[in-house]
Amino acid sequence: MKDHDVLMQSFQAAGQGQVFRFWTDLSAEQRTSLIEQAREIDLAEVARLNDSLVLGRQAAGVDVSGLEPAPCVALPEHGGDTALWAEAKLAGEKALRQGKVALFTVAGGQGTRLGYDGPKGTFPVTPVTRKPLFQVFAEKILAAQRRYGCELMWFIMTSHANHAQTLAFFDKHRHFGLRPEQVHFFRQGRMPAVDFSGKILLEGRDQIALSPDGHGGSLRALVRSGAIERMERAGVEVISYFQVDNPLIRIIDPAFIGFHVRRGSEMSSRMVPKAFDKEKVGHFCIQRGKLVVIEYSDMPDELATLRHAAGELVYNAGSIAIHLLSTAFVRRVGEGGANVVLPFHRADKKIPTIDDAGAPVKPAKPNGVKFEMFVFDALPFARNPVVVETRRSEEFSPVKNAEGVDSPKTCSDDQMKLFARWMHAAGLAVPVDDTGVPTIRIEISPLFAVDEDSFAESWAALKVKPALADGLAL
Ligand code: UTP
Repeated sequence: MKDHDVLMQSFQAAGQGQVFRFWTDLSAEQRTSLIEQAREIDLAEVARLNDSLVLGRQAAGVDVSGLEPAPCVALPEHGGDTALWAEAKLAGEKALRQGKVALFTVAGGQGTRLGYDGPKGTFPVTPVTRKPLFQVFAEKILAAQRRYGCELMWFIMTSHANHAQTLAFFDKHRHFGLRPEQVHFFRQGRMPAVDFSGKILLEGRDQIALSPDGHGGSLRALVRSGAIERMERAGVEVISYFQVDNPLIRIIDPAFIGFHVRRGSEMSSRMVPKAFDKEKVGHFCIQRGKLVVIEYSDMPDELATLRHAAGELVYNAGSIAIHLLSTAFVRRVGEGGANVVLPFHRADKKIPTIDDAGAPVKPAKPNGVKFEMFVFDALPFARNPVVVETRRSEEFSPVKNAEGVDSPKTCSDDQMKLFARWMHAAGLAVPVDDTGVPTIRIEISPLFAVDEDSFAESWAALKVKPALADGLAL
């Protein structure tokens, strides 16, 4: 029997034979493609997920019992120990100089909310020169390399849909000044979508409805792609994990790295105090001794709004999807084992499919389920996890939606507000409106400055100071 016959039989046996229902109509090429897609599917995993998440034979819902607020390292202005922050910074700088840190961007999402035609990392995000997100990160890496005298490896996780375009973009822009050899791309895994009875959906006669397996899939993709092995060979111990849609993030932050290293942490996270009670961010909590993130949609209202006698929120630590991971931890979780399996989450979606005649169907309401893993679900498996506070204004302004909150406009304004604060601190008079947004357009490249101190230094070193009247791009 041919290999593909065996594969097709296993789909029949699993009750998923419908995947091949147009087999006899397909060309040889289409058959090969369908077989390749089918090989990506772990039928036992799909059966398990159908049981637990789709057919509801196991208890559904997130367990929110026994929650307590998570302890966090506070910023100095909120009572954190200044000496500890200074020591952490030194430790982080040492790790950077020793080449123990690598960067990791998850860029495999579909970016449906933004609706931009192209990989999100290619979105022009800066306020004046319209640099793409990938360039902003590349310049931060170049700036850190200069400062710490090291070369930093950068790993970028793409999806099947955007991989080729992402690589072509980096080639076209000559890797934004980085050595091509230091930038590594790999694709994340995919999961099939199923209908509400657990049947794998087809998107075309020769196309299974496959989609990225969530940012949590990055851990197993790091292992399966060989990325972790590369890091291990290069002596990397700390992976700075960040999302592709947030240009404000300090992707190389010595103090954060230092807290992580000094605690012997396997996974550390950044937090910001919630902006309001029911802000749509995950909450860092302790549950039976383990650090967890409870999504806003799962957090009981009475906990989300609970206050201390003095008025502050009890569950105040919001997650902004910034983490440090140890290489050994990623290997352990990414390889998976009986005791370290990231759960999948169910998302009901409108999934384009075909009818029995093979004609396309664009559903008007959700017609099936996608399975996704979330990276923060790794936290309960991590030893000594540490949560470190940061300032929202300095680190978090993602581009998620085309308009309104977390949109290109708010992100551009937040970048300019931050640059204006650095300039004010250096004694420059930048006109701003009453929300702090400059009334002239300003942009500062990470190659010029990455924070208040480096701005003051670079500005002082400028022999000819540019005029501010009509805006500024440094
Ligand atoms: P989001 O949850 O914002 O999803 O991803 P998205 O796909 O970018 O956008 P929408 O929801 O379709 O509008 C947060 C980060 O995780 C990455 C994204 O690229 C982004 O950096 N991600 C998400 C992946 O790398 N893979 C995934 O499967 C999902």
